Amino acid sequence: MSAVRFSGVSKNYGPVVALAGLDLDVAEGEFLSLLGPSGSGKSTTLGLLAGLIDADGGKIEIAGRDVTALPPEKRDLAMVFQNYALYPHLTVAENIAFPLEARKPKPDAAEIAKKVEAVAQSLGIGPLLARYPREISGGQQQRVALGRAMVRDPKVFLLDEPLSNLDARLRIRMRRDLKALHAQLGSTIVYVTHDQSEAMTLSSRIAIFNHGKLQQVAPPAEIYDRPANAFVANFVGDREMNFLDGKLTTQGGAPGFVFAGGVVPLIASAAAVAGNGALRLGIRAEAIEPTRDGGALRGSVILAELAGPDLFLTVRLGDGAEIVARADPRAFTAREGEAVSLALDPARIHLFDAETGIARHHGAA
Ligand SMILES: Nc1ncnc2c1ncn2[C@@H]1O[C@H](COP(=O)(O)OP(=O)(O)OP(=O)(O)O)[C@@H](O)[C@H]1O
Ligand SMILES: [Mg+2]
Repeated sequence: MSAVRFSGVSKNYGPVVALAGLDLDVAEGEFLSLLGPSGSGKSTTLGLLAGLIDADGGKIEIAGRDVTALPPEKRDLAMVFQNYALYPHLTVAENIAFPLEARKPKPDAAEIAKKVEAVAQSLGIGPLLARYPREISGGQQQRVALGRAMVRDPKVFLLDEPLSNLDARLRIRMRRDLKALHAQLGSTIVYVTHDQSEAMTLSSRIAIFNHGKLQQVAPPAEIYDRPANAFVANFVGDREMNFLDGKLTTQGGAPGFVFAGGVVPLIASAAAVAGNGALRLGIRAEAIEPTRDGGALRGSVILAELAGPDLFLTVRLGDGAEIVARADPRAFTAREGEAVSLALDPARIHLFDAETGIARHHGAA
């Protein structure tokens, strides 16, 4: 039985399609991220699941029970929002205990104290219980907000961008804590983020949205290596994907991709891509090796960016197209204005239908 199931769920705001016919299953114990750009329908999906938003159509089930018409308090969920606002006049312990104090019938004081203690221990905030929110750091406040959700022992946790208020370093540490917490609790988590690296590191699976439509749902590695379409391919990864417009060619039996700037060799199975329609080749910077010569394409460096261990070279090809390649600066460097050659790894080339963007071939078979 799925922990959560959406069947044909939709939501419109006047002419705006916030969510279009969503079908999605979340497995028991899964950490599922909802990922997509601003306005793509992530919070709408979470709000529908929480019961804060009414669906226009479709069915939502939690642990096999139809909750579509149930109010939020009957859904057995705990939600942590981006602005996790703690009660400033209550201590950490009182903040965490709050949902239990509000419960009817109210558990007795010893039971509440025991539960608060256990939750605080697992979050590493045991020593902070007597402090007030203003007396602890942002990351600690974040953990208190999580603790407040955890004491309720919900069927499913819903988290909407819970780390977005934290600075970059702290966010990465909280990611690790969240992952450990998930492993320890084994609970089902539905997590909203627009940060692709956060989704990639945390999730068992990622559901990618664009314009209210689910684009793909798959484990992170599959999303990265076998994106369902050009939107997904471009949205994940630290940098934008490189795209070239052209079509298939077979010269001397070996398949290649021909475009205005030259011919790129492909793996043999690419020959199976049917038809000779317009295609878009996609490849990430790390799959392109800049060399002095010997690559399939030539161009000149228009921008060289050293980013820690990587040197990113933006290269303008003969036809005017620009491509970004990643080099290891200890092995290869080039300056702006220099001519370089580019070798594209055929095992990491993706081909998309130029019109629909749907993937037709992945070099990683
Ligand atoms: N109450 C509302 N009234 C009208 N339009 C709304 C309302 N809530 C959301 N929308 C619209 O629905 C679409 C989806 O919004 P949603 O909040 O789900 O996006 P999101 O993916 O969470 O974006 P973000 O990353 O910016 O939080 C957007 O176009 C948004 O403007
Ligand atoms: Mg949102």
